[in-house]
Amino acid sequence: MILGIETSCDDTCAALVTGGGEIRSNVIASQGLLHARYGGVVPELASRRHLELVDAVVADALERAGVGLDEVETVAVTQGPGLIGALLVGLSSAKGLAATRRLPLVAVDHLHGHVTASTLGPGPGAKRPARLGAQRSPIEPPYLCLVASGGHTFLARVEEPSSYTVLGQTLDDAAGEAFDKGARLLGLGYPGGPELDRLARDGDPEAFSFPRSAPGELDFSFSGLKTALLYRLRDEPDADRADLAASYQRAIVEALVARTRTALEREGLARLAIGGGVAANSELRAAVEQLGVPVWVPPTELCTDNAAMIAGAARFLDPIEYPDYLALDARARAV
Ligand code: KG4
Ligand code: ZN
Repeated sequence: MILGIETSCDDTCAALVTGGGEIRSNVIASQGLLHARYGGVVPELASRRHLELVDAVVADALERAGVGLDEVETVAVTQGPGLIGALLVGLSSAKGLAATRRLPLVAVDHLHGHVTASTLGPGPGAKRPARLGAQRSPIEPPYLCLVASGGHTFLARVEEPSSYTVLGQTLDDAAGEAFDKGARLLGLGYPGGPELDRLARDGDPEAFSFPRSAPGELDFSFSGLKTALLYRLRDEPDADRADLAASYQRAIVEALVARTRTALEREGLARLAIGGGVAANSELRAAVEQLGVPVWVPPTELCTDNAAMIAGAARFLDPIEYPDYLALDARARAV
């Protein structure tokens, strides 16, 4: 049994996953409300809240899985990338839990977690089965993965679940950031992605044309889009908000889907997984189903940040034995 801990941003998460990839529990304590009044995540507040919550979240994950700490064989934790103070809380907590029991520890790359989220499946012991979109069984390599979240947007080729190759990525804003900034300009709350998604349902996606920038075959660029929305609102202050939301969302989704299609063809891959918070977007979820390959769309709680994907990725990595991991440091940036 693997205990996973994830504290890279503003969710305090712990999960229990078996060696076979069955999710036994997946607890997510969201700090959304804490940061909402500031319109974004305040790093220092996030670290302090992680510190307050992490022990209770781990205890909750154990209880929901119906296992004791003595049944945990490995501790997995996010090492980076993310907010350094936030990461350190999870890492220190994981080291403490592992060291007192002389358990091995696995340091996991947060993005590797997103890339392998669809390799997890429901277990017979799962209290709430983790549905994997239209696909009921875990995905198997080789596959293409589109990760789109508030902090990252990239396409990855997965040959072996132990690693991934980035084929293209955003050169400026992440797709989730584009959603959040667009939502803010439209006067919606934070995080804006889900609200913009909702507003767009009542709008005409063809009402306005927004730029589709093409920085490279498989790279993304979203910062020009938010500026275009800003100017549009300045020039047409009475423009229909739902039409703007629908057209803006269409531009983001089309950029994601077009690069995904190109990558599938260029790489000769026949399976697709999507992940990250933006994978919760209704238009994106519908659009990827039209790509003509089987698609794994994880349930929302495996798309947004969670510890099940961290424990899941740890299955494919080499554990570090006690006491070697005590010197391990968190890292803010992707490697
Ligand atoms: O993966 P995630 O929970 O955290 C990061 O690692 O960043 O992603 C959060 C991002 C936010 O930008 C949020 O607005 C976006 O995912 N998001 C959505 C939707 N739900 C969440 N964007 C568009 N449509 C949604 N339904
Ligand atoms: Zn993430």
